[in-house]
Amino acid sequence: MQMLWSLGLCLACLVWLSLVHGQGHVLDKPVTEKCLTCLCEAMSGCNATAVCISNEKGICGLFRITWAYWVDAGKLTIEDDEPDSENAFINCANDAHCAADSVQNYMKKFNQDCNDDGEMDCHDYARIHRLGAYGCHGEMPYKFQSTFEDCIDNFAQLEKDEQLRKDDS
Ligand SMILES: *[C@@H]1O[C@H](CO)[C@@H](O)[C@H](O)[C@H]1NC(C)=O
Repeated sequence: MQMLWSLGLCLACLVWLSLVHGQGHVLDKPVTEKCLTCLCEAMSGCNATAVCISNEKGICGLFRITWAYWVDAGKLTIEDDEPDSENAFINCANDAHCAADSVQNYMKKFNQDCNDDGEMDCHDYARIHRLGAYGCHGEMPYKFQSTFEDCIDNFAQLEKDEQLRKDDS
């Protein structure tokens, strides 16, 4: 039994490795625009006003990124900033592009199936983003979850309407 498990895991990792090699350019930015939109909707209402909502911890920007998250995401900076300069984190978190790229890097690094549905998609990214890479199987805060689900549902409805229009013409 133990042997079978190891073998299964190994096969899974081989498949995963070949996927990574086969679609490196896709995984370079694993989070779709749609998904980014729903993440910021749920985190901040996509309010782009530069702001940090906690002075001590620093939870900043569209995606309410923390300093630790930013570090894990590779300390990206806006142009002309140095990663170790005092305001590098705040400047990046409050810049839509820098913040979105940080989300991409974070998900690239911590990609995992948090809700055990066999897929890695926006639902997992939402969990990783809100609960952190190591707690992503946990309970989601109600407000975040409902805003996020509404956003995903809206996109699905838009796509359905679009398809109907195409079928009609
Ligand atoms: C966006 O955030 C700023 C700063 O917290 C706040 O003053 C403003 O009212 C917010 N805008 C919207 C549309 O919620």
